[in-house]
Amino acid sequence: DKIVLAYSGGLDTSIILKWLQETYGCEVVTFTADLGQGEELEPARAKAAMLGVKDIRIVDLREEFVRDFVFPMLRANTLYEGQYLLGSSIARPLIARHLVAIARQVGADAVAHGSTGKGNDQVRFELAVNALDPSIKVIAPWRQWNIRSRMQLLEYAAMHRIPVPKDKRGEAPFSMDANLLHTSTEGKILEDPAEVAPEYIYQRTVDPVDAPDTPETVTIGFENGDPVAVNGQAMTPAALLTELNSFGGRHGVGRLDLVENRFIGMKSRGVYETPGGTILLAAHRGIESITLDRAAAHLKDEIMPRYAELIYNGFWFSPERDMLQALIDRSQDFVSGEVTVRLYKGSATVISRTSPCSLYSADLVTFEESAIAYDHHDAEGFIKLNGLRLRSWAARNGR
Ligand code: ARG
Ligand code: SIN
Repeated sequence: DKIVLAYSGGLDTSIILKWLQETYGCEVVTFTADLGQGEELEPARAKAAMLGVKDIRIVDLREEFVRDFVFPMLRANTLYEGQYLLGSSIARPLIARHLVAIARQVGADAVAHGSTGKGNDQVRFELAVNALDPSIKVIAPWRQWNIRSRMQLLEYAAMHRIPVPKDKRGEAPFSMDANLLHTSTEGKILEDPAEVAPEYIYQRTVDPVDAPDTPETVTIGFENGDPVAVNGQAMTPAALLTELNSFGGRHGVGRLDLVENRFIGMKSRGVYETPGGTILLAAHRGIESITLDRAAAHLKDEIMPRYAELIYNGFWFSPERDMLQALIDRSQDFVSGEVTVRLYKGSATVISRTSPCSLYSADLVTFEESAIAYDHHDAEGFIKLNGLRLRSWAARNGR
């Protein structure tokens, strides 16, 4: 039989490849997704070939990733625990979908991944596979083999002559994950939350302290809740996010150093860079501020943490995510227009917004005389009735 492995070309999945071949004695097909991780993928092909893989699949999923996963999530202004833009969480269901599709194509009855038994990613991959095709088995070598630490992993690599990549400082690398939305770094010195993250772990943003002294502005066009243009130029989803990553990166926008609660039950510390995503979040809130009705906006804000938790916990493919997505998508019908964001030493600040479907009325809100019929006396009764229960409450309390 055959196994389809989600293969990054890195150390862990190369060892897993070897281990699967030895343990199951069957053909392993590798699947490597180009999610814009900013790495050459040809070395992954060469490495897989060197390890004896005949069916090597490298697929460019950048547009699908941003269009069908990142943008739908952005419509909800999604943040986990108030800060994390879910860059790794949102990529897992996409990878799982393609693992399942390839498994069906090649007639494999199992897929395999390189996530550890302690993390979120194993849950996300496997819940997604469950939801997409219950007949496919999942192999998680990290939960099955006798290797218990990164140290033992390196020994196994040496034994099987698998090259161990070093970081730019000649050390074993951090646990990392990267795609067009973010970079994520965990492990090693970061496992002590008291230790300040060293500057060299950042890959796509400059230190805000070293960012240009002159601010830069960028204008983002939205249509029905999705960004479609940068500075007046229409772009595909992946091109747009790539462009905003470079804007944000040079101004040190989107760094996050976070201790988060994993679904499995433990706390973990990670460092993230989400430059383009951070700009888009600010801009999307900016366009919603003039196009969404108050109650609609507040309802979205209420369900957002639920929706974020669902994605973080691996339930992208689930009935409840579908339901929430329908609500969120429906809210975006008039979320169109342009927002200008100023980037300056780590900050992304909305400084202007316009929309053909704006609900904002200067005539209504103005401090000056206005043509619009608004009877100030109505406010008196409004306050009187809203104050009714407060007056009873205060009287009872003996004030
Ligand atoms: N903690 C993040 C999450 O659960 C990132 C996980 C993957 N990142 C990594 N460095 N291995 O979404
Ligand atoms: C892993 O455990 O493989 C990475 C971290 C995570 O999934 O939370």
